[in-house]
Amino acid sequence: MRRLQVFDDLESLGRAAADGLAAQIREAVAARGRCAFGLTGGRTPRRMYELLAERHREAIPWGRVDLFWGDERYVPHDHPQSNYRMAKVSLLDRVSVPSANVHPMPTDPPEPSTAARGYEDLLRGYFRGRPAAFDVLLLGLAANGHVASLFPHQPVLRERTRWVVAVDVPADPPRRLTITYPLINLAHQVAFLVAGSTKAEAVQRALRADGEVDEAPAAGVAPDPGDVTWWLDRQAAALVSPEKGGV
Ligand code: 6PG
Repeated sequence: MRRLQVFDDLESLGRAAADGLAAQIREAVAARGRCAFGLTGGRTPRRMYELLAERHREAIPWGRVDLFWGDERYVPHDHPQSNYRMAKVSLLDRVSVPSANVHPMPTDPPEPSTAARGYEDLLRGYFRGRPAAFDVLLLGLAANGHVASLFPHQPVLRERTRWVVAVDVPADPPRRLTITYPLINLAHQVAFLVAGSTKAEAVQRALRADGEVDEAPAAGVAPDPGDVTWWLDRQAAALVSPEKGGV
């Protein structure tokens, strides 16, 4: 199922998305004992992560939440462009999540492909003996339509078996690790968090039924039987109609 939730601004969007994600995390723990929560990078989630910590520091059983990343720039974890660093500063340092539950994508092997294989091995080991699926997977959307580090017209869009691959993308920094559609589409709950007028066309392309993934990689995010919730501010939702499921 797909649903759109639209809010006036980043602050009200952040509060609502934080509350919605907290409910989904608690539901996963109640149903399956733990929650595998995939985090996104970029700028948009920063305030929502802060609100998730402020509003749900006690209500979420952080000891039962295992944190992973959907993509990472191939820079040290203390680098200003690190997705791990952004989540650490805005969320991890503000809640009592055990360090053993936090699984950043490794960026120290000389070859990113080695790091990608290592992270995939970690994920496959984590899910061994039970259905592989993120309970909650948070994704952003870029103005050019990329999601995680699945960029338009990239070979990774055709990946059908690997869960984590190293990519070279037309962005700074170019070397990245990303999860792929095979893993994304196993998720129970996918949440897009998108704000700002620069994203409106990308949102429209992603939600159009005939979304061609080469132009709109987010259109390839179609978990089944999982659900997708689009958390949008008014500017990002300007070209879609929530009452009609987005198109
Ligand atoms: C990254 C993200 C990427 C991000 C979009 C949106 O590493 O950059 O994982 O997929 O979600 O680029 O980024 P903003 O939130 O900064 O617009």
